[in-house]
Order: sequence, then C-alpha cells, then structure tokens
Amino acid sequence: MRWGILGAARIAASALIPALRANRSDIVAVACRDAARGAAFAATHHIPEAVDYDALIARDDIDVIYNALPNHAHLPWTLTALQHGKHVLCEKPLALSAGEVEQMRDASRASGRLVLEAFMYRFHPQFDRLCELVASGALGPLKWMRGSFTYALRDMTDCRWDPALGGGALYDLGCYPLSLMRSLAGVEPVVLSVASRLTEPGLYGGSVDHAAHAVLRFDTAAGPVLGHFDAAFSLPWHCQFELLCEHGLLRLPIPFATKGVETVLQVGEQTERFAICDPYATMVGHFEAAVRGECALRFGLDESLGQARAMDALLAGAHATDALNTSHERPPSAIIAP
Ligand SMILES: NC(=O)c1ccc[n+]([C@@H]2O[C@H](COP(=O)([O-])OP(=O)(O)OC[C@H]3O[C@@H](n4cnc5c(N)ncnc54)[C@H](OP(=O)(O)O)[C@@H]3O)[C@@H](O)[C@H]2O)c1
Repeated sequence: MRWGILGAARIAASALIPALRANRSDIVAVACRDAARGAAFAATHHIPEAVDYDALIARDDIDVIYNALPNHAHLPWTLTALQHGKHVLCEKPLALSAGEVEQMRDASRASGRLVLEAFMYRFHPQFDRLCELVASGALGPLKWMRGSFTYALRDMTDCRWDPALGGGALYDLGCYPLSLMRSLAGVEPVVLSVASRLTEPGLYGGSVDHAAHAVLRFDTAAGPVLGHFDAAFSLPWHCQFELLCEHGLLRLPIPFATKGVETVLQVGEQTERFAICDPYATMVGHFEAAVRGECALRFGLDESLGQARAMDALLAGAHATDALNTSHERPPSAIIAP
C-alpha cells in the first residue's frame, strides 16, 4: 500500500513511520508547509520526496493519506483527500465536532473510501481482553469506571494551547478515557458534570481547557454505570484506568501509551501480562487489510460520531464553567493546578 504523510509531525516521526515500516508499507512522500523542513524530515526518515499538502493529495501514486495535522485541520484535509480518491488514517480526535464527523462520513460514503480515527490503544491486546472480561461479567456487572490522563505541557508554542487549532485537554487527552469508557459500556454516555480550568482568553485570542474532570453516566442494559475521568496538560504525568465490577476490580496501569512496554491487566487478585508490541503497527495493518477489502473496519465513522457527540457535550460543559471560579490563569508556571 502506498502512503502519503500529511505533516512533518512529531507523531508521524515517533509512531506512524515506524508502524508503516513494520508493515513494509511504501511511504511515497511527506507533505510540509515549509519546503526546507520537509526535505530535512524526508531525508531523516528515508522518504523519497517532500512536497506541499495539495501536491501530496493530488498524486495518483498514493492510496492512503495519514493526516497528522493539528485537530482543526483534520476535517478540511480529510475531505480533500477523500475527494481525490484517497483513504485516510486520521489522527485523534477525528474532528472538532459531531457535525464535522458527519461531513466526513458523508464524504467517505460518496467516495467509497475509508476513514479511520487513529486511536491506536484499541489495537493493543489488553483492550480486547478488557472488553471480553467486562462483556463476560467475569467479576459481575460493571458499576464504576475511572480514568486519568494528565501531563505537564511546558511548550507554550504547542498547538494544544491554541483554540483556533483545536487545542485543549479534552480533545487531546480526555478523548482516550472517553473512548475506552464508551467501548466498555457499549452505550453512549450522558454527561452529568464537567469541571474545567481554562486558559486566559488573551493567550491565543480564546480559551482552551487545560484541565477538566468529567462525570458521565452510561445507561446499560444491566443498569447505570458511572464513569469519571481527569484530563489535563497542566498537571504532572498520571495515566491509568480502572473499573469496579460488583465482585472486584479490573485495572490497567498503562491504558493508552502502550507502545514498546510490557503491560499488565489486574483482574481481581490475578495479574495478566502482555508482551511488548506496537499497537500503531497493528492499527496500520488492520487499516490496510480493510482498504484491500479483506475485512471490515473494526471502528467505523458511526463509532467516531458517537465519540464526537459525547465530546461536544463535554466541551459545552467545560467552557461553561471554570472549576475554581477564579480568573483565567497565566501560563506556564501559574497553570500548575494545586
Ligand atoms: N495517536 C497518538 O498517539 C497521538 C500522539 C500525539 C499526537 N496525536 C495527534 O496527532 C496530531 C498532531 O500532533 P503532534 O503532537 O504530532 O503535533 P506537531 O508535532 O505539532 O505536528 C503537527 C503538524 O501539523 C502541521 N501544521 C499545519 N498547520 C499547522 C499550524 N497552524 N500550526 C502548527 N502545525 C501545523 C505541521 O506540519 P508541517 O509544518 O510539516 O506542515 C506540524 O508538523 C494531533 O491531532 C494530535 O492529537 C496523536
């Protein structure tokens, strides 16, 4: 399969290019806004050509575009790629709203080309095992889920601080526990509350949520399940996920950033171990198989639409409140939440 990489992004360098190499995929070209930077990126990663965005998408020797752009650019460039007959593996969050995902779904159907939201954590075996355990009721009915994904983002030029580029902690990090909770509950959530902390509006001409805590209810056939999670890039690193079932605890100490590390799943008193693997490579392999028509996409755009609808509700809550009811804060030192 012949790939074009849209954006000389860090995630392309650190995760997707190695995943494509692992699948023996053909990386035809990378696109960059800056010709010199693009050429340097291509040389570093042994990619034959560096071109601009339009030129990459117009090429007829490319089958799949990997969209590694900031969140605000997922919709326009994914639509352009679909219009040019390309399949698209697009970074998470797939879009900025449910309305944008609907546009992608319409364009995907019209073009007959696939789009996959690149939630790589779903391609690690521990995800399947956790889903299987919850569905089997091994520890009794699911009651409670809690997740956390926080870290300290010191680089104030990062696109995550800029509302115009789709910045914010819910888009960047909250999307992971939300996605996992939706997968495990099997129904869409009701957002009960969101407490957030917002950046000073003057920083980038608008605010982003740099920290948020959300409480969700999932009305499953077996009864209501409560989910709550933290997402922040203004706090120290903390990432974990656990579920309380009627008869015990299920816990993933490394729920999302699973590439290249041994992981474990705690099942009550037992511990299950998972060997080192590369979920990005498994994701690429699955997408290529789906593009070749060998299997259906495991996670289609209807799934992404459910995710985006929940995210819309979370963002509405996050921007309606500031948890501490204080003035907006100045980064970087003052943003470390107490
Ligand atoms: N799945 C994962 O594990 C994972 C991990 C990290 C990030 N992500 C996602 O991947 C995407 C990129 O994240 P990243 O951390 O790799 O970001 P990044 O290093 O800043 O790369 C983003 C790229 O977007 C391009 N770009 C286009 N317009 C831009 C603008 N106005 N401002 C800044 N960059 C612009 C730039 O490419 P050129 O300058 O080369 O044109 C830049 O290289 C995001 O959607 C993020 O949520 C996913």
